[in-house]
Amino acid sequence: MKAEKDEVKNSRLVRSAFVFAGCYVFLLIVIFLMIVINDPSGWRQYIAANATGLLTLCVCAFLLCFIVYYYYYFEDRSFLVKAKNVLLVFSLITVCVILCYVFGRFVNIYARPCALLALLCVFLFNRRQAIMLNFIFSILMFVIDTYTNNFSDVGVTAQVYFSLMLNFVCGTFAIFAAGGNKTRGGLLLTGCVVAIPTVLIVALLQLPQITGNWIEFVASIGYGILGCLISAVLALALLPVFEAMFNRLTVFRLRELTSTNASLLVRLKQEAPGTFNHSLIVAQLSETCAVAIGENAELARAAAYYHDIGKLKQPDCFTENQTGYNVHDELTPELSADIIRSHAKDGYELLKAARFPKLIADVAREHHGTLPIKYFYNKAMKLSGGDADVADYSYLGPTPQSKIAAIVMISDASEAATRALRDRSPASVERTVRSIIEERMDLDQFAECDITIRELTIIKQTLVEALSGVHHHRVEYPAIRFNRDRQAVKEEKD
Ligand SMILES: [Fe+2]
Ligand SMILES: [Fe+2]
Repeated sequence: MKAEKDEVKNSRLVRSAFVFAGCYVFLLIVIFLMIVINDPSGWRQYIAANATGLLTLCVCAFLLCFIVYYYYYFEDRSFLVKAKNVLLVFSLITVCVILCYVFGRFVNIYARPCALLALLCVFLFNRRQAIMLNFIFSILMFVIDTYTNNFSDVGVTAQVYFSLMLNFVCGTFAIFAAGGNKTRGGLLLTGCVVAIPTVLIVALLQLPQITGNWIEFVASIGYGILGCLISAVLALALLPVFEAMFNRLTVFRLRELTSTNASLLVRLKQEAPGTFNHSLIVAQLSETCAVAIGENAELARAAAYYHDIGKLKQPDCFTENQTGYNVHDELTPELSADIIRSHAKDGYELLKAARFPKLIADVAREHHGTLPIKYFYNKAMKLSGGDADVADYSYLGPTPQSKIAAIVMISDASEAATRALRDRSPASVERTVRSIIEERMDLDQFAECDITIRELTIIKQTLVEALSGVHHHRVEYPAIRFNRDRQAVKEEKD
């Protein structure tokens, strides 16, 4: 089984290497087109006269692509096995190369959106990958500027070095400035913050060149600020495109998905209000647990919001949405169990059809793992005199494949179980949550996700604290009411 998995992984890695090669060739075509656009009539002569330089450019670009491949090979192989991720990385680099070329060539070198790639990468991937890709991109732009006819007019060398410095410093600064940013408005603000080091660098780089021409000096600084703002605006415009095309998760998309105006949540609120309320509490619990074990809290919250979305198919079949009449009283336990367990699969299919991020859809499918549906199994045992197969009354799985899925699984069960508790003291809640976790461990529900015993203990403690708070008993109100004269009178009870 393991050998089979390794073989699949290796074949995917080889496929990714081919995609890398294809993307590299595409990048060379883009660079070739730049040379043609720069000199439509004399590009043939330029290529003939600079063959060695262009060969150096091809080799350097290849080496940089190779570094990216090796970075992912050693640092994040699971990222590399998906060819779609490789395509995304190269699409980002190529789009940024093109935009830097357009702004640098037709506006001003300082107006280049230097921080664009860094901003896109920090939101689409993470800070670490963004730093590495920004570094590679800065060198790549430097090599392109050096060995093509992008700046063939004046001060070629100085301009090229300025550009390298700007790309590297502004990009890196943007990565740190954008950290913790969770709104699209905040992203624009990041553009303004990045303008500070840009102004500093442009001023320092231009200072030795001032020969009484202050207008050019001020204009250069103005272009530098413009470049930063363009970076932020373009990032704002391009992020949704990459999010949608490559189904990537960003904090912005998570925000939109967890907004109460999100269409599926509006449907859940209207058609299954009980499930909606339950999901809100599970989301709050999951978010707290995710924070406690250092997982992505926004992602845990979003996944929990949609974990029971499959109940939309037949909302009345689930207790939390029933008001008196219970449809299961008229059904056989087999049929009831089938309806109940299908909500995991239905949720997964609904979220896939709505092009939700994979992890959120996976959580909907995995949040009950392969657990038995005790109530209907018990009912079937009673009706059949002990002749019921537990497999027919169990969820179809798979078991949680990620820590987030495990968190949602435990939070979901703990919320439902403590809701039914009469005694909600911390000791009683602790007993309940402990038994939920232990039962799932006994049934190997965490065998396929890399959650540790320590993390499970932290989750248990977090849930006990949170649930003792969520379901605390209110102080009983005194049976009095005030009359118009503001005098307390005894309230009549019916
Ligand atoms: Fe569920
Ligand atoms: Fe649930």
